[in-house]
Amino acid sequence: MTVTPTGSQAPAADVLVIFGITGDLAKVMTFRSLYQLEARGLLDCPIVGVAADDWTLEQLVERARTSIEGTGVTIDKAVFDRFADRLSYVGGDFTEASVYERVGQAIKDAQTPVFYLEIPPFLFGRVVQGLSEAGLTTGARVVVEKPFGHDQQSARDLAGQLHQYIDESQLYRIDHYLGKMGLEEILYLRFANAVLEPVWSRNYLDCVQITMAEDFGVEDRGHFYDPVGALRDVVVNHLMQVVAAAAMEPPSRGDPTTLKDSTTALFRAVEEADPAHYLRGQYDGYLAIDGVAKNSATETYAALRLDIENWRWAGVPFFIRTGKRLPVTQTELRLVFKRPPRLGFGPRGHIAEPNQLVIKLDPSTGVRIQVDAHRADLARIAPIELDMEFGQEGGEGPTPYEVLLHAAMTGQSTRFTRQDAVEETWRVMQPLLDAPTPIHAYQPGTWGPAAAGEVPAGYGGWRTPWIPN
Ligand code: BG6
Repeated sequence: MTVTPTGSQAPAADVLVIFGITGDLAKVMTFRSLYQLEARGLLDCPIVGVAADDWTLEQLVERARTSIEGTGVTIDKAVFDRFADRLSYVGGDFTEASVYERVGQAIKDAQTPVFYLEIPPFLFGRVVQGLSEAGLTTGARVVVEKPFGHDQQSARDLAGQLHQYIDESQLYRIDHYLGKMGLEEILYLRFANAVLEPVWSRNYLDCVQITMAEDFGVEDRGHFYDPVGALRDVVVNHLMQVVAAAAMEPPSRGDPTTLKDSTTALFRAVEEADPAHYLRGQYDGYLAIDGVAKNSATETYAALRLDIENWRWAGVPFFIRTGKRLPVTQTELRLVFKRPPRLGFGPRGHIAEPNQLVIKLDPSTGVRIQVDAHRADLARIAPIELDMEFGQEGGEGPTPYEVLLHAAMTGQSTRFTRQDAVEETWRVMQPLLDAPTPIHAYQPGTWGPAAAGEVPAGYGGWRTPWIPN
């Protein structure tokens, strides 16, 4: 996360090398993001694609074109031609030394290459070893995609493997939530506003609720998703970043170390999750998906409670829920305030609704404040909502991958996760991984298993997310 623009911390990339350029992530995300950077004049180096497929440059350029169009972008020929001119292709088996020699020839005498590994994590070590043995890692940055291990020990092992060849400062771990405008907005709202900052604490809040709902299912990702599940796919990483933004202390400076220290300090204060407050669900129909084990007990829905043991947050539970095939696609952070005391005037016996402050991260960025007010049309006090969509006040900003690829190429590491934070988030989730709770079925299109309502019991239940009209 960047709180203040800190400028570049490392020299800009003089080449971007993408391992796995023929894969799915490149198709749905990377080409489009790089094209958009090109359109905004932010792309400044050659791009070398590497993959096992025996492709020609023409095939790569064609894949770039169809991929960009496939995401709904109308191509501007001049921009695309500039982008295509940057591309070259190296084919070969990542387990053979020869491919790294050919990469070396393709990047010529680049001093600050950025290697982006869009490949299965079990290949990270092999590729970084190959790059190192070919003498290509000095001055390089290596960008990797989640998952960073599947539990605390494997996260450590993976880092240990990579640290044999490169040091931590060269590793840029992508958690695309760190590129979301809404996530950064949380920090600005908290710390740039004297009217808002003091209320983010146990003095005012009853609980915090984070909802990440998706109306789509696992579809064609069964092979990837079934060994992973919701907790590993989005909670330990994306939603923990939301927890960090909502709960960390203000970083005193904008440099990467200070920011990452604040994040890690917060994670350290989070207690290990208690399986007694963990509810797993699986939507009906999941088992029929290609790549899903016939008797799979993988969760497509997870609801849990976290407690943060520090002065600001002790006694304020953070409730997190996420699921596939829910009624809407929507991610929000919701602060639920303490109930005010009974009104001594006005309608007799009226107990006001707790105020709520909502920050919507997806599908658009917005802020809602729910307050109780006296309305002329009602003979009582009722909640009213003060809503603000950021898109109507300066636009939505670039997509997370544009932000993160640009940051990696310009050597700004603030928005990438550090190993100590990764290990802390696994520590928090480890008890849930060690003792998976029973799986509850739910109907697609519902808010998950009914039993999930137990997780925030005593705190007014799950609040219905802010769904824009
Ligand atoms: C990915 C997960 O990391 O994040 C997906 O693997 C999930 O399962 C996705 O759907 C959500 O990201 P976003 O930005 O589209 O909400």
